[in-house]
Amino acid sequence: EQGERTRLIEAHRAAAEYYAELLGGPEAGPGRRFLSERGFERVDAEHFGVGFAPPDWDRLARHLMGRGFTAAELIKAGIAKEGRRGPIDRFRARLVWPIRDITGDVIGFGARKLLDNDEGPKYLNTPETPLYKKSEVLYGIDLAKREISKRSQAVVVEGYTDVMACHLAGVPTAVATCGTSFGEGHIKILRRLLLDQAEFRGEVVFTFDGDPAGQKAALRAFAEEQKFVTQTFVAVQPDGLDPCDLRIKHGDAAVRDLVASREPLFAFAIRSTISRYDLATNEGKLAALDAAAPIVASIKDRALRQMYAIDLDRWLGFLNEQLVIGRITEMAGQAA
Ligand code: CTP
Ligand code: MN
Ligand code: MN
Ligand code: MN
Ligand code: MN
Repeated sequence: EQGERTRLIEAHRAAAEYYAELLGGPEAGPGRRFLSERGFERVDAEHFGVGFAPPDWDRLARHLMGRGFTAAELIKAGIAKEGRRGPIDRFRARLVWPIRDITGDVIGFGARKLLDNDEGPKYLNTPETPLYKKSEVLYGIDLAKREISKRSQAVVVEGYTDVMACHLAGVPTAVATCGTSFGEGHIKILRRLLLDQAEFRGEVVFTFDGDPAGQKAALRAFAEEQKFVTQTFVAVQPDGLDPCDLRIKHGDAAVRDLVASREPLFAFAIRSTISRYDLATNEGKLAALDAAAPIVASIKDRALRQMYAIDLDRWLGFLNEQLVIGRITEMAGQAA
C-alpha cells in the first residue's frame, strides 16, 4: 500500500545518502580508485550518487535503525537480510549505484565488488521487492528521459559505468538494464517516451560488449525486435570495448561516434551471421546463405524482407540474386 511504499523509498533515500557520505571516508580508498581508473571524477560520482558500502556486517542497518526504520522494513526493502542476531547488510565492501525510477525515487542498488578475490559475484543487485521489479528497471532513466523524448532516441548499454560514460561523453540518452536482459517491460517504458512527442517511430540503439554475453544479448534483442514498434539499431565497437572502456581509451568523441555508427538490427544480425563463414569459397557462401536465410525470412514487412534479400546476395559476394530471393521467399511462405 501507499504508506509502505513511502517508507521503503525513504529508507532507500537514507541509505543512498549514507553510502555517498562514506565514499569520502578513509575506508573507501579502493572505491575511489576504481572510479578514477574508470575515468570518473569526484563530481561525476556525486552527480550519479555513487556510494560506498563498508565491509562491516551491519553498519548500514544500524545507521538506519537509529533513524527509526525497523528491521522488517529494511528486509522488505532488500537493503538488509535476516541475520542470526538481527538484520545484516546486503551489500558489503562494494561500490554502490543508487537505481532510481523514472520519477527520481531510489528503488534499489547495484553494487560492484572492488577486489577480484573478494567473495561473491562481481555485481549484486537488489532482489525483487515491492519497489524493485527488475524487468522494468532502467538505470539512468530519471536522467535520460527528457533527452530521450527530445531526440526520439534511447541508447541501451550494459552497465552502470557505461551509462555514466555515455552521459559524460555527450550521449545523455543512455540507460542500462540491471543484470537482466532487455525485454517487454523495458520496451514499454521507452516506448512511452519515444512515441509521445514524435510523429515518426523513435529509435532504440543497443550497444553490446563483444564478449559471449554481449552476443547473446544481441540475439535476444533480435528475437524481440518485432514487438518493439520503434526502430532498432545496434552499435558495437569493433574491438568489443564497452562505452566506459572506449571512453577511457579513446575519449568522449569515440563514444559519440560509436552511437552515430549504429546499424539496423537486421543488418547487424545478418552480417555477423555470415561473417562466421569463409566467403572465399562457393561452399562457404552456400553455408552462410543457409545460416542467414532464416533471419531474413523472419522479417515480417515484405518490402523490407526483399531489400534485405538483395543485400544478403551482395554481402555474399553476389552469389546469385534469384537463388537468394527464391530461398527466402520459400522460407517466408512456409512461416506464414
Ligand atoms: N550487471 C548487473 N548485475 C549483474 C551482472 C551485470 O547489474 N548480476 C551489469 C553491470 O552494470 C555490469 C554490466 O551488467 O557492468 C555488464 O556486465 P559485465 O560485462 O560483466 O561488466 P563489465 O563491463 O565486464 O564490468 P566492469 O566494467 O564493472 O568491470
Ligand atoms: Mn516519486
Ligand atoms: Mn560483458
Ligand atoms: Mn565495463
Ligand atoms: Mn562491459
